[in-house]
Amino acid sequence: MAETNRTARLSSRPTGMLQRDNFEIASEELPEPGDGEFRVRISHISLDPAMRGWVNDAKSYVPPVGIGEVMRAIAVGTVEASRNSKFADGDTVTGLFGVQEYAVSDGSGVIKVDTSKAPPERWIGGLGMPGMTAYFGLTEIAVPNEGETVVVSAASGAVGSIVGQIARIKGCRAVGIAGGAEKCAYVTDELGFDACVDYKADDLRGQLSAACPDGIDVLFENVGGEIHDTCLSLMNFRGRVAICGMISAYNATEPVPGPYNYRSILVNRLNVRGFIVFDFISQYPQAAKQLGEWHGAGKLKIREDVREGGIDAFPDVLNLLYTSGNFGKLVLKV
Ligand SMILES: NC(=O)c1ccc[n+]([C@@H]2O[C@H](COP(=O)([O-])OP(=O)(O)OC[C@H]3O[C@@H](n4cnc5c(N)ncnc54)[C@H](OP(=O)(O)O)[C@@H]3O)[C@@H](O)[C@H]2O)c1
Repeated sequence: MAETNRTARLSSRPTGMLQRDNFEIASEELPEPGDGEFRVRISHISLDPAMRGWVNDAKSYVPPVGIGEVMRAIAVGTVEASRNSKFADGDTVTGLFGVQEYAVSDGSGVIKVDTSKAPPERWIGGLGMPGMTAYFGLTEIAVPNEGETVVVSAASGAVGSIVGQIARIKGCRAVGIAGGAEKCAYVTDELGFDACVDYKADDLRGQLSAACPDGIDVLFENVGGEIHDTCLSLMNFRGRVAICGMISAYNATEPVPGPYNYRSILVNRLNVRGFIVFDFISQYPQAAKQLGEWHGAGKLKIREDVREGGIDAFPDVLNLLYTSGNFGKLVLKV
């Protein structure tokens, strides 16, 4: 029997959480590379919170995935059947290969990775896009000074876990916010944050002010909503807020209320700035080198949550992100 390619194509636009019937999951003919192209046998697909936004028919920083198109996703895999002189069979590469088993590429936006330094899935996690997001968001947008207090939400996750560790490397006090005692213990005991606040326990504001006795100088926002509001109320004069994500609102079906403590921006003269990691694409090599050095030196701990089930497990596995079901960078094994 000829080999086939299992694919997940968007078949309808969701309301609220993604449903299985928003995707057609089917076996298709194996794609053949043309001149200048190569095929990638995908081993791991990165499941990222932004994927929920990519299927909305709305203005964003990238066009929406079209109905009938393979779902957009970053992935890692091995080059085969190469007809491109820059990529050889056997190379391990990352790129926007989609939710499928095989992709054909002309090499645009594709990066070769070194699996002798880290396993393939790490190159789509802490050493890939989420690691870059943490690095640029902290060092280029928030710009903390030594001794300052840096607070990060979704602290046990792909981006947040790296943010706090870089903050520590830069001599800051790192305070995480995460859901549940187990994740909070991981953030302090394994990742070395100075404190971690459990937003699922009582009195978030009281816990946070105890963890930040000198207030908050830098807020790295991954969640939004009530957590964001509570942090705003503790910001210091000339604090900086890097708006990285708002995961609590990605599946909202009604308009989401704005921050109640907006006035803090005025009275504290805060610098609030959103960013998308792609803004820094020309500086990726610099970040990759630095993250790789820290990781190699044991200063950066990285955890993946790799799920089985292949293409057929999509989008159920993706939905774990929005229900706190993942613990570490969420990856779908193909
Ligand atoms: N700006 C950019 O370029 C860029 C790039 C990558 C990612 N991001 C953003 O960064 C954020 C984190 O992404 P990630 O890939 O690192 O995901 P992640 O933190 O590994 O996983 C998502 C986590 O978010 C938390 N969460 C989900 N719903 C929540 C809610 N309603 N309230 C509070 N916490 C909730 C959960 O952690 P708990 O168990 O602690 O609740 C969950 O495990 C997302 O907002 C994402 O969109 C932005």
